[in-house]
Amino acid sequence: MTRLLVRDIAQLVTSAGATAPLRGLALGDLEVIVDAYVLCAGGRIEAMGRMRDLGRLDGEVDELDGRGQAAIPGLVDCHTHACFAGDRADEFALRAGGATYEELHASGGGILSTVRATRAASEEELAAAMHRHRGWMLNAGTTTFEAKSGYGLDHDTEIAQLRAIRRAGGVPTWLGAHAVPPEFAGGDPYLEFVLAEVLPEAAEIAEAADVFLEDGAFDEHQARRYLTACRDAGLALRLHGDQFTVQGAVPLAIELGARSVDHLEATGPDGVRALAASDVTAVVLPASAPFIGRAMPPARALVDAGAAVALATDFNPGSAFCESLPLVCSLAATQLKLSPAEALGACTVNAAHVLGRSDRKGRIAPGYDADLVLLDVPDWRYLAYHLGHDHVAAVVVGGEQTELP
Ligand code: NIG
Ligand code: FE
Repeated sequence: MTRLLVRDIAQLVTSAGATAPLRGLALGDLEVIVDAYVLCAGGRIEAMGRMRDLGRLDGEVDELDGRGQAAIPGLVDCHTHACFAGDRADEFALRAGGATYEELHASGGGILSTVRATRAASEEELAAAMHRHRGWMLNAGTTTFEAKSGYGLDHDTEIAQLRAIRRAGGVPTWLGAHAVPPEFAGGDPYLEFVLAEVLPEAAEIAEAADVFLEDGAFDEHQARRYLTACRDAGLALRLHGDQFTVQGAVPLAIELGARSVDHLEATGPDGVRALAASDVTAVVLPASAPFIGRAMPPARALVDAGAAVALATDFNPGSAFCESLPLVCSLAATQLKLSPAEALGACTVNAAHVLGRSDRKGRIAPGYDADLVLLDVPDWRYLAYHLGHDHVAAVVVGGEQTELP
């Protein structure tokens, strides 16, 4: 078995401890090793530490030079809509001219315009688009990503999306309740259809289910019906909640034992308190709110109250055309007032927790999957500090250096 030694790393940075999720002060608690090595074998991290403590290695060992670089855990994007066809550049221009996201959605644009493009794509075209988007994410240092369906809203396209996500190595989430497609008169008859016709096959491919609980999408009663059926089919639960208005997503997520409630731009002090006292992770998406001109989520208050907080991109063609977690970390530091250390913990350990993978993803530690990113920077905090710049020099996935597209 060939091993990989990443050697002479100027700075190795990973969240301290071994628990997940990280709450409160623990979110920003890092282990920093200067002049470090990481030894990978069989896809896992076999050992790590100071170069001076590295013993003699027998057998075949490939080497990667980390001189002058910082190593961080492979980034984990726990909320994307990366499997889509087409784009919404026209709508983007309209919004720049004053149209709102909600207006475009209500007039049959928005999500439904990507549904039209995604339905029109063949399964191969969809897989090619997913592959391309996966390359963008990898270039930005994302080694584990979740992606949702929700741009098919019919049997074949929803299943094709979930398959394309799996083929690209993503963690698939069935977002069967993203919008009501035009061939249905309302949310109830649409749910009748998807739960009977799509859920059984979707549950074989997806790991979780997600619903958009919002005015103009699905109400609390419909979200409960959808999520309960998905839970009964063995799926973990996620919610898009409190994005524009408070509609009961937080109490519903807590009641149903959901893994996460995501967005939270409209969440007030009651929601913050409730999340802090719960096991539901608050996933905040700071690329999404400014992209559509909305106020930011109360991430600082959530962390301070003791909630488990994760950061993700929300990468999609409409509300967040952004696959970069480093940019999300910059927005978290400058707009949400999370420290760079908290931001790193939120898009590694806590994001892995949302995906049910915190025992093997999100940390550089013995026994974990050997996923790490080398940044060509003198201080790892450039990850958040250098706004919009790509410092990714090398990405190791499963103990092998990956060619960046
Ligand atoms: O998370 N809010 C619902 N869904 C996505 C947007 C999808 C789209 O606009 O295509 C979101 O923001
Ligand atoms: Fe989303």
